[in-house]
Amino acid sequence: MLLAHSPGLIGDAGADWLAGVNELGDVAWPPAPIRTERLVLRESEARDRPAFVELLASPEVNTYLGGPRPRDELERALPAVPGRFPGGFVVELDGKMIGQVLLRRATEHRPAAVGKIDLGYLFLPRSWGSGYAAEACAAALDWLDSVLPGEPVVLATQTANTSSMRLAAKLGFAELERFHAWDADQWLGLRPPAVPSA
Ligand SMILES: CC(C)(COP(=O)(O)OP(=O)(O)OC[C@H]1O[C@@H](n2cnc3c(N)ncnc32)[C@H](O)[C@@H]1OP(=O)(O)O)[C@@H](O)C(=O)NCCC(=O)NCCS
Repeated sequence: MLLAHSPGLIGDAGADWLAGVNELGDVAWPPAPIRTERLVLRESEARDRPAFVELLASPEVNTYLGGPRPRDELERALPAVPGRFPGGFVVELDGKMIGQVLLRRATEHRPAAVGKIDLGYLFLPRSWGSGYAAEACAAALDWLDSVLPGEPVVLATQTANTSSMRLAAKLGFAELERFHAWDADQWLGLRPPAVPSA
């Protein structure tokens, strides 16, 4: 995660969240929905708005992301279709949004991460503990490998966020450095580019 809060969800009212990130690059967007064994990854739609409010207002989801936002503020400030930008995947289970996977290029970050694509993920607590985040992130990374082959991906998370640290390891991220920012110890990992098959 690039910043204290997840970027790209709030729109104008949360433009600060967009500092330090820009478009993914030269990629056709949106792709056709990506289907995994249990999930669908797709672009955000208006019907996802209540789930975005739930995600951003949840104290559990935002424990390591700067804290929850007041629900009434979110109801007012979120755009009609939140989280719609290249690299912003809504993750759907049985037709309903359960989380979000974000792939965004970092323009302001640790020096080792500037210019690289950053992976972020947020899932509703009721979906935790079933491997959905791992399944969705792996699919998003596979998609990235197919559209931008050879791209390294970075991931920053608080070291205290043990679920996120475990997920990063499962996805093949290796530690680049630890640092202190936003009043917390942070971990920066790198997923090396996939080796192209001969
Ligand atoms: C980080 C976060 C996405 C991790 O979610 P998660 O559900 O724990 O992650 P995974 O998808 O990897 O699932 C792993 C768990 O599912 C379990 N599991 C159950 N069935 C499984 C299956 N079929 N396949 C894989 N794992 C399965 C695993 O045993 C593991 O459980 P454990 O945590 O008790 O060891 C979630 O905690 C979250 O949204 N947090 C708030 C947002 C946040 O902090 N994001 C990080 C900022 S980048």
